[in-house]
Amino acid sequence: MQRLSDTPIPTYLVDSQEFANELLADEITTLLTEQAGRLVLGLATGNSPIGLYNELARRFREDWIDLCFVHTYNLDEYMDLPADHPASYRAFMSEHLFERTNLGPRHVHFPPTGVEDIDAACLRWEENIEAAGGIDWQLLGIGRNGHIGFNEPGSPFDSRTRRIELTESTRTANARFFEDPEDVPHQAVTMGIGTILEAKRLRVLAFGETKAQILERVLRSEDDPSIPLNALRRHPDAALYIDSAAAARLG
Ligand code: F6R
Repeated sequence: MQRLSDTPIPTYLVDSQEFANELLADEITTLLTEQAGRLVLGLATGNSPIGLYNELARRFREDWIDLCFVHTYNLDEYMDLPADHPASYRAFMSEHLFERTNLGPRHVHFPPTGVEDIDAACLRWEENIEAAGGIDWQLLGIGRNGHIGFNEPGSPFDSRTRRIELTESTRTANARFFEDPEDVPHQAVTMGIGTILEAKRLRVLAFGETKAQILERVLRSEDDPSIPLNALRRHPDAALYIDSAAAARLG
């Protein structure tokens, strides 16, 4: 693993995705030991975290880790999808992590979507995170446009958990999970950038050539506050783990 020089966010080039997944799983394993199992994790969906979730499930199966006291808070969820819809983020997390470990059903939390007063529910969700002691370790992926969670370009860096309109580019990118591209919801609820920045540690996984252009724009250019990923410049303990395809334009 090589730490890239002169990047505004600490960035590590890894030899393989598996290595990055093991490294992040090691970090979680260490925190579990240090905090006697009481850990609050912020989690993401999408392709990027699947290998890490596989590694955590393996460690659980092989008795390295116990997640019974862990609480998880997911970054985002679609509006207007039943919780058991196969493309809901809750269904994704159940398949890739929750059902493969002993994470308790009452310990896994998603942004509120199926309620009438979304604004009030978002406030309660934020209070809930605070009452849990805040997020110890937050996992992020990045969109091709630099979004984090569903905070699209232009989202204020002090934004809080809220309902948002999805951009057409994000709807198109996510259409692969739906039978008909028209079925992709137009709205979602996402943790805000300000909410994300309050996590104690931020870890980003970015693999593959589709991430190369945005990484160049963030890591090799002046600070542009319209790109959500740039918010991580303001965090004291953020790090990106990228493979050689994602690093292709960094020189
Ligand atoms: C998902 C999320 C998104 C993804 C991003 C990258 O919960 O918050 O911001 O992390 O769209 O997606 P992948 O990993 O599929 O490239």
